[in-house]
Amino acid sequence: MKQKYLVVLMAILYIALIQSCKDSSQTNDDTVESDGEAMFKAVEMPSILANGDPFPTDSNTINGWLKEKSVVDGLETDPNVIGHAWGLWQALTELTDQTYQGRNLRRYETWYTPQDVMKASSENSTLSDLKRTDGSLQFRPKFSIGHDAELEPTAGDISGKVKYSPGMAQRALEGNYFDSTFLKSKIVEGQINSLRFNPEDVMLKPIYRVLTDLNKVEGKDDTYYFHIWGGKQDGGKPDSLFSNKVNVCTNNASPDIDNSSTFSIDAFIYHKMSAAEAYTYNNSTKEGNEFVDTAKAGDPVILLGMHVSTRETQRWTWQSFYWTESPDNPIFPSSTVIAAGRNTLSKPLESPANHYAASVGYSMMSPALPYEGPPIDIMNAGVSPVYALNPYIEGTFGTDVFPDQATYFSGAYAEQFYKANIDGITSNCMSCHSQAAYDGSGFNEGSFLADQYVNRNAPWFEGMVQLDFAWSLFPGFEPPPSKVTE
Ligand code: HEC
Repeated sequence: MKQKYLVVLMAILYIALIQSCKDSSQTNDDTVESDGEAMFKAVEMPSILANGDPFPTDSNTINGWLKEKSVVDGLETDPNVIGHAWGLWQALTELTDQTYQGRNLRRYETWYTPQDVMKASSENSTLSDLKRTDGSLQFRPKFSIGHDAELEPTAGDISGKVKYSPGMAQRALEGNYFDSTFLKSKIVEGQINSLRFNPEDVMLKPIYRVLTDLNKVEGKDDTYYFHIWGGKQDGGKPDSLFSNKVNVCTNNASPDIDNSSTFSIDAFIYHKMSAAEAYTYNNSTKEGNEFVDTAKAGDPVILLGMHVSTRETQRWTWQSFYWTESPDNPIFPSSTVIAAGRNTLSKPLESPANHYAASVGYSMMSPALPYEGPPIDIMNAGVSPVYALNPYIEGTFGTDVFPDQATYFSGAYAEQFYKANIDGITSNCMSCHSQAAYDGSGFNEGSFLADQYVNRNAPWFEGMVQLDFAWSLFPGFEPPPSKVTE
């Protein structure tokens, strides 16, 4: 049924897209090198961000930014918060001197995955001695929860992964955080226990689109298409195509690049797939990836977006970035106010990093409510919800991803429930990540929250170990290291 629909849809698309960038018999001459030793180093964050803030910034400073109401239409407008988010983005996307297969890596690419931590633990290795032969881009099963029906795979599969800064990876390794027996040992009936990371710790969730032959515009060898977020009306649409689409042209001489829906590949953070990456992409299907397309060396891998969270405050800072066709004037969940923050950096963003929009949420409600305390009557607390999401990750979440949120807010907590916040486009990173806690049994599908205020001492955490907002530590969420190697 779905397959048939796709065939028809693709036929329509091919017809519609014939007018894309000009044909080119020119082949891409950047050759893909063979695998080297893969000993690239993980590069730490700089001590000063490009917006002038120290890293890490003192939590009192950040909490000070959140004391006044600063949201308009649910989106953050505080210049300090926005500047900080762009400062982090600059640092993460900056090119380093580290290379993998002859390609310079951006800072975030050099960081460790949870699978690296698991591998170091089982091999009794230090993180820095670990041979990361599968490179910085290790294909892994798709995120399952809330992503069962991912964005249309024929328009480019989405592949995501979790990354930790060097210090965070080290703490997860030393602390045995991927060992559920250890986590269980922290559980005490009637009590709330918590793991604790350090202020300089950073966690990421970059997502990519691999552009394979399946995404080529018919009759073109150098032009691919994919669908992009068109705003709130695309919210909660997990298995249908977003209405807007763009073409990506790999031939910069093409006259069609001026066409408003055709972009040069240079507008994206991207690299060409190595032979090893193509191999793991194609073969990890055996581990449940369900990539329907076949990749080959040289296929472009574009960075579609990235979740970024820092432990600078007890509740972490939350921001997400995603590629946009209009970086000066991005649509919800970003804004022109947020985009303007890019111009305040002392070190400019490199041109492709400048083509991304940001969504920012440093609190669940604005002004920020206390870290912990008694239940709050939310409608009479003088606060407004803060919406922060990545359209390509949470934007597609419908109400079914948050089936039981009302049950948390019953009894004394009934007045704390913000009834209008029910789906991905009314969600907030911090609220959902607050719920990352383990009671020794399996995942409760009803744990996810849209934008709700969560007190750290809420009674539903009793008898659990709070994972310090890191959902990736929930036993079973992160798959074991891939066995697919070339
Ligand atoms: C509905 C719940 C939910 C919302 C909303 C949500 N996340 Fe997550 N997030 C998760 C889950 C579950 C994972 C774990 C994925 C895995 O390990 O496979 C995760 C993983 C992550 C990670 C990887 C590290 C970790 O352990 O958490 C980061 C960073 C992250 N999310 C940031 C964000 C940001 C930024 C936002 C908002 C823009 C956001 N998340 C919104 C559920 C959520």
